[in-house]
Amino acid sequence: MHAEKIEENDLVFLVFDNRSRWLLQVKSGESFHTHRGIIEHDEIIGSSFGSVIFSRPHESQGYKFFVLKPLPSDYVLYMGRKTQIIYPEDAGLILLYSGIGPGSVVIEAGTGSGALSCILGNFVRPDGHVYSYDIREKSLRRARKNVEMTRLQEVISIQEGDILTMDLDHANVDSVVLDMPQPWEAIEKVKKYLKLSGVLVSFSPTIEQVKKTTFSLRKHGFIEISSCELMKRMLQVKENATRPEVRMIGHTGYITFGRKIEDVKNPYRERKPRNEETIDMDGMPLREPREP
Ligand SMILES: C[S@@+](CC[C@H](N)C(=O)[O-])C[C@H]1O[C@@H](n2cnc3c(N)ncnc32)[C@H](O)[C@@H]1O
Repeated sequence: MHAEKIEENDLVFLVFDNRSRWLLQVKSGESFHTHRGIIEHDEIIGSSFGSVIFSRPHESQGYKFFVLKPLPSDYVLYMGRKTQIIYPEDAGLILLYSGIGPGSVVIEAGTGSGALSCILGNFVRPDGHVYSYDIREKSLRRARKNVEMTRLQEVISIQEGDILTMDLDHANVDSVVLDMPQPWEAIEKVKKYLKLSGVLVSFSPTIEQVKKTTFSLRKHGFIEISSCELMKRMLQVKENATRPEVRMIGHTGYITFGRKIEDVKNPYRERKPRNEETIDMDGMPLREPREP
Protein backbone atom coordinates (compact mmCIF):
# COMPACT_ATOMS: atom_id res chain seq x y z
CA MET A 1 0.00 0.00 0.00
CA HIS A 2 1.26 3.51 -0.89
CA ALA A 3 2.04 6.10 1.75
CA GLU A 4 -0.81 8.59 2.11
CA LYS A 5 0.09 12.09 0.82
CA ILE A 6 -0.78 15.12 2.93
CA GLU A 7 -2.91 17.78 1.24
CA GLU A 8 -3.67 21.37 2.17
CA ASN A 9 -6.19 21.58 5.09
CA ASP A 10 -5.42 18.04 6.21
CA LEU A 11 -5.11 17.52 9.93
CA VAL A 12 -1.73 16.16 11.02
CA PHE A 13 -0.38 15.05 14.37
CA LEU A 14 3.02 16.67 14.81
CA VAL A 15 5.20 14.92 17.39
CA PHE A 16 8.46 16.16 18.89
CA ASP A 17 8.64 14.06 22.06
CA ASN A 18 6.34 12.64 24.77
CA ARG A 19 5.32 16.07 25.95
CA SER A 20 5.45 18.24 22.82
CA ARG A 21 2.84 17.13 20.32
CA TRP A 22 0.18 19.07 18.47
CA LEU A 23 -2.80 18.69 16.14
CA LEU A 24 -2.22 20.97 13.18
CA GLN A 25 -4.35 21.80 10.17
CA VAL A 26 -1.84 22.50 7.41
CA LYS A 27 -2.33 25.63 5.29
CA SER A 28 -0.04 26.80 2.52
CA GLY A 29 2.19 29.76 3.50
CA GLU A 30 1.67 29.33 7.27
CA SER A 31 4.29 28.56 9.93
CA PHE A 32 4.02 26.86 13.31
CA HIS A 33 6.31 28.16 16.06
CA THR A 34 7.62 25.70 18.63
CA HIS A 35 10.23 25.92 21.40
CA ARG A 36 12.46 23.92 19.05
CA GLY A 37 12.19 26.14 15.99
CA ILE A 38 9.69 26.85 13.24
CA ILE A 39 7.79 24.31 11.18
CA GLU A 40 6.75 25.47 7.71
CA HIS A 41 3.38 24.02 6.72
CA ASP A 42 4.55 23.91 3.09
CA GLU A 43 7.17 21.35 4.09
CA ILE A 44 4.42 19.10 5.42
CA ILE A 45 2.00 19.59 2.48
CA GLY A 46 2.93 17.11 -0.23
CA SER A 47 4.90 14.85 2.12
CA SER A 48 3.43 11.57 3.38
CA PHE A 49 2.01 10.67 6.75
CA GLY A 50 4.93 9.06 8.56
CA SER A 51 7.49 11.58 7.27
CA VAL A 52 10.18 13.29 9.31
CA ILE A 53 10.72 17.05 8.93
CA PHE A 54 13.28 19.40 10.51
CA SER A 55 12.60 22.72 12.22
CA ARG A 56 13.94 25.94 10.73
CA PRO A 57 16.36 27.59 10.64
CA HIS A 58 18.03 24.28 9.87
CA GLU A 59 21.49 25.54 10.91
CA SER A 60 20.56 26.63 14.45
CA GLN A 61 17.44 24.49 15.11
CA GLY A 62 17.13 21.51 12.78
CA TYR A 63 15.27 19.36 15.31
CA LYS A 64 13.47 16.23 14.16
CA PHE A 65 9.64 16.29 14.11
CA PHE A 66 7.43 13.34 13.14
CA VAL A 67 4.32 13.83 11.01
CA LEU A 68 1.59 11.28 11.78
CA LYS A 69 -2.00 10.79 10.72
CA PRO A 70 -4.10 11.64 13.82
CA LEU A 71 -5.92 8.78 15.54
CA PRO A 72 -9.34 9.35 17.14
CA SER A 73 -7.59 9.35 20.53
CA ASP A 74 -5.33 12.19 19.35
CA TYR A 75 -8.35 14.29 18.34
CA VAL A 76 -9.66 14.04 21.86
CA LEU A 77 -6.49 14.60 23.84
CA TYR A 78 -5.01 17.41 21.75
CA MET A 79 -8.05 19.35 20.53
CA GLY A 80 -9.01 22.71 22.10
CA ARG A 81 -11.36 22.24 25.02
CA LYS A 82 -13.69 24.41 27.05
CA THR A 83 -15.19 21.63 29.18
CA GLN A 84 -14.23 18.37 30.79
CA ILE A 85 -14.00 15.85 27.96
CA ILE A 86 -14.45 12.12 27.60
CA TYR A 87 -11.18 10.21 27.59
CA PRO A 88 -10.45 7.82 24.70
CA GLU A 89 -10.65 4.71 26.93
CA ASP A 90 -14.17 5.58 28.04
CA ALA A 91 -15.16 6.43 24.48
CA GLY A 92 -13.84 3.04 23.32
CA LEU A 93 -15.97 1.23 25.86
CA ILE A 94 -19.01 3.31 24.91
CA LEU A 95 -18.55 2.37 21.25
CA LEU A 96 -18.25 -1.36 21.89
CA TYR A 97 -21.10 -1.67 24.37
CA SER A 98 -23.51 0.58 22.45
CA GLY A 99 -22.86 -1.00 19.07
CA ILE A 100 -22.39 2.47 17.53
CA GLY A 101 -20.69 1.96 14.19
CA PRO A 102 -20.95 2.75 10.47
CA GLY A 103 -24.48 3.88 9.64
CA SER A 104 -25.61 4.47 13.25
CA VAL A 105 -27.76 7.48 14.04
CA VAL A 106 -26.92 8.91 17.45
CA ILE A 107 -28.25 11.73 19.63
CA GLU A 108 -25.71 13.26 22.00
CA ALA A 109 -26.15 15.75 24.88
CA GLY A 110 -24.21 17.77 25.91
CA THR A 111 -21.77 18.47 23.17
CA GLY A 112 -19.18 20.10 25.48
CA SER A 113 -15.97 20.59 23.50
CA GLY A 114 -17.10 18.06 20.92
CA ALA A 115 -14.49 15.46 21.88
CA LEU A 116 -16.96 12.58 22.10
CA SER A 117 -18.89 13.95 19.10
CA CYS A 118 -15.73 13.64 16.99
CA ILE A 119 -15.08 10.08 18.13
CA LEU A 120 -18.69 9.07 17.46
CA GLY A 121 -18.62 10.89 14.10
CA ASN A 122 -15.46 9.07 13.14
CA PHE A 123 -17.14 5.71 13.74
CA VAL A 124 -20.61 6.34 12.23
CA ARG A 125 -19.03 7.36 8.89
CA PRO A 126 -19.82 7.24 6.02
CA ASP A 127 -23.61 7.16 6.19
CA GLY A 128 -24.50 7.48 9.89
CA HIS A 129 -25.03 10.75 11.74
CA VAL A 130 -24.46 12.31 15.17
CA TYR A 131 -26.95 14.98 16.30
CA SER A 132 -25.37 16.77 19.21
CA TYR A 133 -27.08 19.32 21.50
CA ASP A 134 -25.79 21.73 24.12
CA ILE A 135 -27.25 24.65 26.00
CA ARG A 136 -24.04 26.70 26.16
CA GLU A 137 -23.05 28.87 23.20
CA LYS A 138 -19.40 28.88 24.35
CA SER A 139 -19.25 25.07 24.20
CA LEU A 140 -20.97 25.03 20.82
CA ARG A 141 -18.46 27.45 19.28
CA ARG A 142 -15.49 25.37 20.43
CA ALA A 143 -17.15 22.11 19.42
CA ARG A 144 -17.94 23.42 15.91
CA LYS A 145 -14.28 24.41 15.48
CA ASN A 146 -13.15 20.95 16.55
CA VAL A 147 -15.62 19.24 14.22
CA GLU A 148 -14.43 21.39 11.29
CA MET A 149 -10.80 20.73 12.15
CA THR A 150 -11.40 16.97 12.11
CA ARG A 151 -13.44 17.41 8.90
CA LEU A 152 -16.38 15.50 10.26
CA GLN A 153 -19.01 18.19 9.62
CA GLU A 154 -20.85 15.97 7.14
CA VAL A 155 -21.65 13.41 9.80
CA ILE A 156 -21.99 15.64 12.89
CA SER A 157 -24.65 18.33 13.40
CA ILE A 158 -24.10 20.54 16.42
CA GLN A 159 -27.10 22.51 17.58
CA GLU A 160 -28.12 24.67 20.48
CA GLY A 161 -30.80 22.89 22.47
CA ASP A 162 -31.85 21.78 25.92
CA ILE A 163 -32.37 18.03 25.85
CA LEU A 164 -34.52 18.29 28.99
CA THR A 165 -37.12 20.67 27.61
CA MET A 166 -36.97 20.68 23.79
CA ASP A 167 -39.07 18.36 21.65
CA LEU A 168 -36.62 17.16 19.03
CA ASP A 169 -37.58 15.90 15.63
CA HIS A 170 -35.97 12.47 15.97
CA ALA A 171 -37.35 8.94 15.91
CA ASN A 172 -35.87 5.46 15.88
CA VAL A 173 -32.28 6.52 16.57
CA ASP A 174 -29.83 3.74 17.38
CA SER A 175 -28.34 5.32 20.50
CA VAL A 176 -28.58 8.26 22.83
CA VAL A 177 -25.40 9.30 24.61
CA LEU A 178 -25.67 11.65 27.60
CA ASP A 179 -22.75 13.48 29.20
CA MET A 180 -24.44 16.23 31.18
CA PRO A 181 -24.99 17.06 34.85
CA GLN A 182 -28.54 15.63 35.21
CA PRO A 183 -28.92 12.70 32.81
CA TRP A 184 -31.68 11.11 34.91
CA GLU A 185 -33.97 14.03 34.12
CA ALA A 186 -33.57 13.39 30.38
CA ILE A 187 -34.38 9.67 30.35
CA GLU A 188 -38.16 9.91 29.88
CA LYS A 189 -37.83 12.35 26.98
CA VAL A 190 -34.99 10.69 25.10
CA LYS A 191 -36.62 7.26 25.38
CA LYS A 192 -39.12 8.49 22.76
CA TYR A 193 -36.34 9.11 20.23
CA LEU A 194 -34.74 5.68 20.65
CA LYS A 195 -35.68 2.70 18.52
CA LEU A 196 -36.71 -0.52 20.23
CA SER A 197 -33.61 -2.37 21.40
CA GLY A 198 -31.65 0.91 21.08
CA VAL A 199 -28.99 1.71 23.66
CA LEU A 200 -28.93 4.60 26.08
CA VAL A 201 -25.49 5.53 27.43
CA SER A 202 -24.79 7.96 30.22
CA PHE A 203 -21.38 9.18 31.38
CA SER A 204 -21.19 10.74 34.85
CA PRO A 205 -18.32 11.60 37.15
CA THR A 206 -20.10 10.83 40.43
CA ILE A 207 -21.80 7.84 42.02
CA GLU A 208 -24.77 9.99 43.07
CA GLN A 209 -25.48 10.69 39.39
CA VAL A 210 -25.15 6.99 38.51
CA LYS A 211 -27.64 6.05 41.17
CA LYS A 212 -30.24 8.58 40.06
CA THR A 213 -29.76 7.64 36.39
CA THR A 214 -30.11 3.92 37.15
CA PHE A 215 -33.29 4.46 39.15
CA SER A 216 -34.70 6.57 36.35
CA LEU A 217 -33.81 3.93 33.73
CA ARG A 218 -35.60 1.29 35.83
CA LYS A 219 -38.61 3.53 36.32
CA HIS A 220 -38.91 4.09 32.57
CA GLY A 221 -38.76 0.42 31.68
CA PHE A 222 -35.23 0.07 30.35
CA ILE A 223 -33.57 -3.34 30.61
CA GLU A 224 -29.97 -4.59 30.61
CA ILE A 225 -29.02 -1.73 32.91
CA SER A 226 -25.43 -1.75 34.07
CA SER A 227 -22.73 0.67 35.18
CA CYS A 228 -18.97 0.39 35.16
CA GLU A 229 -15.74 2.31 35.54
CA LEU A 230 -12.53 1.91 33.57
CA MET A 231 -9.07 2.56 34.91
CA LYS A 232 -6.11 2.70 32.58
CA ARG A 233 -2.66 2.10 34.04
CA MET A 234 0.31 2.91 31.82
CA LEU A 235 3.55 0.95 32.01
CA GLN A 236 7.01 2.37 32.24
CA VAL A 237 9.30 0.11 30.19
CA LYS A 238 12.97 0.31 31.21
CA GLU A 239 15.78 -2.20 31.54
CA ASN A 240 15.24 -3.91 34.93
CA ALA A 241 12.55 -1.36 35.87
CA THR A 242 9.46 -2.27 33.89
CA ARG A 243 6.46 -1.54 36.07
CA PRO A 244 3.28 0.59 36.20
CA GLU A 245 3.82 4.35 35.98
CA VAL A 246 3.69 6.00 39.39
CA ARG A 247 1.24 8.69 38.31
CA MET A 248 -2.08 7.96 36.67
CA ILE A 249 -5.47 9.49 36.02
CA GLY A 250 -7.28 7.86 38.92
CA HIS A 251 -10.83 8.72 37.92
CA THR A 252 -12.64 9.88 34.80
CA GLY A 253 -16.26 8.82 35.21
CA TYR A 254 -18.81 6.02 35.38
CA ILE A 255 -20.61 4.72 32.32
CA THR A 256 -24.20 3.52 32.58
CA PHE A 257 -26.01 1.57 29.86
CA GLY A 258 -29.65 0.62 29.34
CA ARG A 259 -31.73 -0.75 26.45
CA LYS A 260 -35.20 0.19 25.32
CA ILE A 261 -37.72 -2.61 25.19
CA GLU A 262 -41.32 -2.85 24.04
CA ASP A 263 -43.73 -1.64 26.67
CA VAL A 264 -46.31 -4.45 27.07
CA LYS A 265 -48.36 -5.71 29.94
CA ASN A 266 -48.02 -9.40 30.78
CA PRO A 267 -51.43 -11.05 29.94
CA TYR A 268 -50.46 -14.10 31.99
CA ARG A 269 -49.95 -14.55 35.67
CA GLU A 270 -47.22 -12.03 36.55
CA ARG A 271 -44.30 -13.85 38.13
CA LYS A 272 -42.82 -12.01 41.02
CA PRO A 273 -39.54 -10.47 39.88
CA ARG A 274 -36.54 -11.00 42.06
CA ASN A 275 -36.27 -7.75 43.90
CA GLU A 276 -32.77 -6.40 43.49
CA GLU A 277 -33.75 -2.95 44.71
CA THR A 278 -33.38 -3.03 48.43
CA ILE A 279 -32.89 0.67 49.06
CA ASP A 280 -34.52 3.76 47.62
CA MET A 281 -32.75 6.87 46.38
CA ASP A 282 -32.41 8.29 49.86
CA GLY A 283 -30.79 5.12 51.07
CA MET A 284 -33.90 3.87 52.91
CA PRO A 285 -34.67 0.11 52.79
CA LEU A 286 -37.58 -0.70 50.46
CA ARG A 287 -38.36 -3.89 52.38
CA GLU A 288 -37.53 -5.30 55.70
CA PRO A 289 -34.55 -7.61 55.26
CA ARG A 290 -35.55 -11.29 55.49
CA GLU A 291 -34.78 -13.21 58.63
CA PRO A 292 -31.79 -15.49 58.01
C1 LIG B 1 -18.86 17.59 30.50
S1 LIG B 1 -19.54 18.48 29.16
C2 LIG B 1 -19.62 17.28 27.87
C3 LIG B 1 -18.26 16.95 27.31
C4 LIG B 1 -18.30 16.19 26.01
N1 LIG B 1 -18.80 14.83 26.20
C5 LIG B 1 -16.92 16.13 25.37
O1 LIG B 1 -16.36 15.03 25.24
O2 LIG B 1 -16.40 17.19 24.98
C6 LIG B 1 -21.21 18.66 29.65
C7 LIG B 1 -22.02 19.57 28.73
O3 LIG B 1 -23.41 19.35 28.97
C8 LIG B 1 -24.08 20.57 28.64
N2 LIG B 1 -25.44 20.50 29.18
C9 LIG B 1 -25.84 20.67 30.47
N3 LIG B 1 -27.19 20.55 30.55
C10 LIG B 1 -27.65 20.31 29.30
C11 LIG B 1 -28.95 20.13 28.74
N4 LIG B 1 -30.04 20.17 29.50
N5 LIG B 1 -29.07 19.92 27.39
C12 LIG B 1 -27.96 19.89 26.61
N6 LIG B 1 -26.70 20.07 27.09
C13 LIG B 1 -26.55 20.28 28.40
C14 LIG B 1 -23.17 21.62 29.26
O4 LIG B 1 -23.40 22.90 28.72
C15 LIG B 1 -21.76 21.05 28.95
O5 LIG B 1 -21.22 21.64 27.79
